[in-house]
Formats: sequence, C-alpha cells, structure tokens
Amino acid sequence: MAIKAIKGMNDILPGDIETWQFLEQKVREVFGTYGFNEIRTPVVEKTELFCRSIGETTDIVEKEMYTFNDKSENSLTLRPEGTAPAMRAFIQHKLHNLDPVNKLYYMGPMFRYERPQKGRYRQFHQIGAEVIGVENPMIDAQVLAMLHHYFCAIGIDAVELQVNSLGCPDCRPNYRKFLVEFLESRLETLCGDCQRRYQTNPLRVLDCKVPGCKAATLKAPAVLDHLCGACEEHFTAVKSHLDTLEIPYVLNARMVRGLDYYVRTTFELVTDQLGSQSAVAAGGRYDGLVESLDGPALPGIGFAIGIERLVLMKGGEKVQASRPDIFFAAMGEAAAEKSFILMSQLQRAGIHAEMDYHGRSLKSQMRRANKLAARYTLILGDQELESGEAELKNMDQSSQEKVQLNDLAALIARLTAQAVLT
Ligand code: HAM
Repeated sequence: MAIKAIKGMNDILPGDIETWQFLEQKVREVFGTYGFNEIRTPVVEKTELFCRSIGETTDIVEKEMYTFNDKSENSLTLRPEGTAPAMRAFIQHKLHNLDPVNKLYYMGPMFRYERPQKGRYRQFHQIGAEVIGVENPMIDAQVLAMLHHYFCAIGIDAVELQVNSLGCPDCRPNYRKFLVEFLESRLETLCGDCQRRYQTNPLRVLDCKVPGCKAATLKAPAVLDHLCGACEEHFTAVKSHLDTLEIPYVLNARMVRGLDYYVRTTFELVTDQLGSQSAVAAGGRYDGLVESLDGPALPGIGFAIGIERLVLMKGGEKVQASRPDIFFAAMGEAAAEKSFILMSQLQRAGIHAEMDYHGRSLKSQMRRANKLAARYTLILGDQELESGEAELKNMDQSSQEKVQLNDLAALIARLTAQAVLT
C-alpha cells in the first residue's frame, strides 16, 4: 500500500501554496515596518525548555508534546510553540548585548499531539512575533497595532480582538487563593481533569470546555478585579493606547491562556468562522520568562498566528500562481531544440518561459498554453526556422506580431514591457 502522510500533518500543494506565500510575504512587509527581524530556530529542542517555560501542568506539556530520546538518551521535543525557543536563542546568543530592545519574528512548523479536526492539526504553522526588553505599555499597544495592521493587509476582518490582564507574581497568588476557594465550593460539579488540577493550575479550570465546568465557573472571581496597583495602571495604559491608535478590542475577563508564562496583558484574535477552533492568533506578556530560563531579567511580549487558520479564513480566495510570460509551441524535433534553447536563454534573463516536452499536436500544445495562462505563445515550425521569423501571439488580446528569432534582446524587451503592464 502506498505510504501516506501522518495523521494531522498536511502537505501544502501547488495551488494552495500561493496563499501561504502571500501571507508570508505580507509578514515580511508589515512586520518590517515595525522594526522586527526574522529569527530561525531548530524544530527540535531539549524537552526541559518547554517544561520550564510552558509549565508542567499545562495540556501542552502533560499531553501534547512529541517527545523522544535520541541515540544518546537525551530527551528531545518537537517544538510545540515558538516563544520558548526564541527566548532560548535570545539568551544563548546574548542578543540583549547587541540591542536593549529586540524585536523578533518567526514563521514555521510547530507540533502538538492534539485530536485533529478542522483548524487543528498535529503539525501546524505559526507566524510569531516577540519583543524583549520593553515594559512600557506602549509596546503592548504597538504589538496589537501590528497584528491589526497585518490582518488588514491580508484582507481578513472577521476577527475580534479580546484582551485581558492576568496580573503578576505579586497579585496572582492572592487571586488564586480566591479562585481555589471558589472552585472548592463547587468541586463535585467539575470534570475529572479539573478536579485534579484545580489546585495546581486553577486558572485552567476557567478555560475548560466541559459544559459542567463552564456552568460551575460562570460566577468565578475575575482576575481583573484582583490586580495590584501596578498591574491595574499598566492595563489601563494599554487600553488607553489602543484607544488612541483606534484599535478595536473587547475585554474578556475570563480569558486564561494555555501556557503558564503569561503575566499582565493577554489577548486573542477570535473568529466565529472556524467552528470550535476560534482563536486565529493569541499572545501576551511574559515578563518573568527570560529570567526563569537563566537569562537577564527582561520583560517580553508577543503573539503567534495560526497560518492554517488564516488559510481557512481566506477560503476559496485563490492567490494566482505566476503566469508564464511565454510558451513555446514547437512542431518537429528541430523546432523543439530551438524552443528549448530560446526558453533557457529567456529563463536566465528572468523571464518565465515554458514549453511542451512531449512533441504533441499543435492543438494540445495550445491547450496547455491556455491552461498555464501564458501571456504569449510563440509557434515554431520548419518554416519559422528557415525564415528566422515567427509569430508572437498575445493570448490576452488575441493579437499577433512578428519577431526575429535571433534578436533575443528585442524579444526580452517585448515580454518585459508586457509583464510590467499586466
Ligand atoms: P497558542 O495560543 O498556543 O500560543 O497558539 C497560538 C495560535 O497558534 C493559536 O491561536 C492558533 O491559531 C494556532 N494553533 C495552536 N495550536 C494549533 C493547532 N493544533 N493547529 C492549528 N493551529 C494551532 C502560543 O503558541 C504562544 N507561543 C503565542 C505567543 C507568542 N505568546 C507570546 N508570544
């Protein structure tokens, strides 16, 4: 039986890849304007990196990581997300010595052993952005403005920005205490998972999708009502800067994130177009993370966008593949040889040229030229080879003109002039 790809891991085929390339190109354009530079880290890291950053009691670390031992018995993990690897690289290469403010972005595959469904895969791709070194709430608003800008640039507007503050190590223990007490009073109505984790990770109970847990926590205390003075002030400033920049948002006091490193500002871009996988992008502050990984005590904030979810939201809207500038239709072996040489010369000159390799009838060669949406076709037969002159057919306008086969420069000029116009 033919070998198939692993469940939850998808091929991205020509015809779909153009949308991916469009989304990636817009990242470079938009994120570049905000001063972000690309970073690429390996897809495999030491398992310890994710346990220490994402948190031992999170779903990701408890259930979803692809972890294995290599031949030297080192425990390695396929990265389930990009923030921890970016921080590991930041610390390892002491990027803070080069610049007190580092703005990094990345794009690439992540791996989580989740139950695959529409919008949820085991290998998926994220576009991520991280800023290290700024506590000022202006950067929170800037990061959200960039996210908003990116979504405008790619033409997706059916999203809502939800924001929350999760407090900090000063105020969260106090809130946790209230929350644990509240959960204790409703323990028997919680699902098995939540009964087990309500003390180790009570915030996750607020995010549980089981209807019983949802109902039981409706009136749970909100972290927003328990912020310390500094967190309150920070969050008020973030909201005010968002208003100044006219970035629309709503408060979602129940939003807790599935990763433990978050403090203060957290956010999600949600949509109702993707069924239960409603988060298209998500992120927040992680001020203690760099230090907890034995780096300098620097604050951080960032987000990641799920590329598959963007592609789903773009739906059938296809981004057109590159059209050939010219297609050579050759009749006979000598003409095929000449076409082959001309095509290769044009390709070297940066012109998208194609030919038929099968020696088929003129009719089927023209059908192929049409299928590829070639701008021009050049028909070459014995007669054209003899006269050194052929008809260049403009496929969009159905017009023809004569070209000299040995005047490559004129042909290139003709084709590039047309490429600029269309
Ligand atoms: P996250 O919420 O785990 O955050 O993932 C971010 C986004 O990745 C989600 O909103 C979703 O669009 C996409 N995503 C997650 N899991 C899957 C999946 N199984 N299949 C398809 N798409 C998925 C993080 O990963 C943080 N590192 C974000 C961040 C960066 N926070 C600060 N900086």
